[in-house]
Amino acid sequence: IAGAPAGVASAPSVPAGQSEAPTLTILFGSQTGNAKGLAESFQGKAEEAGFNSKLVSMADYKPRQLKSETHVVVFVSTHGEGDAPDDAIELHEFLGGKKAPKLPNLKYAVLGLGDSSYEFFCQTGKDFDSRLSALGGTAIIPREDCDVDYDAQAESFADKLVASLKDELVAAAPAQAVAAQTGMAAQPDKPTYTKKAPFAATLLEAQKITGRDSVKDIQHIEISLEESGITYQPGDALGVWFANSEALVDELLSLTKLEGTEEVSVADTQMILREALINKLELTLSYPNFIKAYQQATKSDSLAELMEDKATLRTYMADRQIVDIVRDHPGDIDAQTLVEALRTLTPRLYSIASSQSEVEDEVHLTVAHVDYEAFGVRHQGGASGYLCDRLAEGGEVNVFVEKNDNFRLPESPDTPVIMVGPGTGIAPFRAFMQERDAQDAQGKNWLFFGNPHFTQDFLYQVEWQGYVKSGLLDKITLAFSRDQKEKVYVQHRLLEHGAQVFEWLEQGAHFYVCGDATYMAKDVEAALISIIQEHGGKSEQDAKAYLVALRKAKRYQKDVY
Ligand code: 2AM
Repeated sequence: IAGAPAGVASAPSVPAGQSEAPTLTILFGSQTGNAKGLAESFQGKAEEAGFNSKLVSMADYKPRQLKSETHVVVFVSTHGEGDAPDDAIELHEFLGGKKAPKLPNLKYAVLGLGDSSYEFFCQTGKDFDSRLSALGGTAIIPREDCDVDYDAQAESFADKLVASLKDELVAAAPAQAVAAQTGMAAQPDKPTYTKKAPFAATLLEAQKITGRDSVKDIQHIEISLEESGITYQPGDALGVWFANSEALVDELLSLTKLEGTEEVSVADTQMILREALINKLELTLSYPNFIKAYQQATKSDSLAELMEDKATLRTYMADRQIVDIVRDHPGDIDAQTLVEALRTLTPRLYSIASSQSEVEDEVHLTVAHVDYEAFGVRHQGGASGYLCDRLAEGGEVNVFVEKNDNFRLPESPDTPVIMVGPGTGIAPFRAFMQERDAQDAQGKNWLFFGNPHFTQDFLYQVEWQGYVKSGLLDKITLAFSRDQKEKVYVQHRLLEHGAQVFEWLEQGAHFYVCGDATYMAKDVEAALISIIQEHGGKSEQDAKAYLVALRKAKRYQKDVY
């Protein structure tokens, strides 16, 4: 792991005698960095308010320490089927287990992050809340469950929390201590370009890298960061802002019988509806809040009927975009109500597929272009359609780097690595190999890659062959799922090579997985457990413990979506 980002280790401690105010512990569990970002900005507010605070990743937090805490705030996200982020797993399990201590002196608050399109929305946040409460803790303010466009809600949560804690956390601190502390608050090394203030980068190239007959359109994207001073590390992601397709917006306007010239207000900014639909609102997904608000506005009976059964509604939403719902259930809605029914646009994160030691001020991505016909019309992905199709080469795209300290090459270039990256999951491993090449790394490298067909879908084939030739890549193991009668996936290949995979692990290898979270990453994990069982001669329980130990040592890392 490269050095922990500034500000994460701990806040400046107040010299003894200046303050007897209790410390507020800010815990975060974050897979892609959103919860961590919120925790960091909350610490900024806490410091401004003069609180003693400590910011800690759940991964680095000893669960038993909870007993001695008085004030804790938790920022935690949820993934897939209600899963906790990797760095939160241990604390999450501890709180749900028999060894969890009573916490009668604890005051706490929880902010959950999630995606309301999933069934187990903010489940991990809910679990933390209910467990801390069951153990005797008292909620300072009610838990908040934030959806994908979380900024405004998170900000108001932070403000409420700071206001509620003011009396308790600064009362004992003399005025000068407050001042001193504010002054001392080391300005974290903030990147100049952020989600809210992105860099207007130039698209250099968008090149299809799957074959003409492929079922997939996967593109290699090159973006110039020239003059931005932006730096990134292998493992980081690039946040990409995008504009919706004009054709899609026109269709929505025509279906709703709106002009597009209506004045609307989006997050307190006035603009015309068409501009809001293109640049500010999410149209290429569907989400429950839209269904609710749209039904309320239009009084659609057919939609009301659909909403009666949760499972039916989920299936219905799964393959539809906003425009499909409106087409299926026509009705009157005014411009401002439509705007309020829609989520505000959020950038998409793509795992970076390049290393700056190789590409300098460029950044490369591997993007699956979502583009298909359904219900008689073209459907295109929001960001992928923008990058792969709608944005001309030379055009501008607003980007920022999202650090991911949960996906890092080993500190030593001599440590072996195993990389499992089917489909676009290959992206960060291209960055890893470029980096290891530049480091002249002596550690062994083993890549598992899979996709439908060898002739159509072997992404970056020439580059891997080059690395095999040069000796950088010791092994490449391929799973082309549809080149034979029976499906063959990366996890099958792992099992076939189980003895050697275990040998590498015993030699200290780091094991990385990138790609599909719903099936692939789970199946790969199951394969890994059975490999450890079989080749390590362990019980299932011991094999799982072996994997937990790997994860804690940051030798088992996932970047899955
Ligand atoms: P398939 O589409 O032929 O079933 C990258 O997307 C590759 O992942 C494809 O070859 C795809 O195979 C495969 N894939 C699909 N489901 C998978 C699973 N559960 N585990 C691993 N790979 C899977």
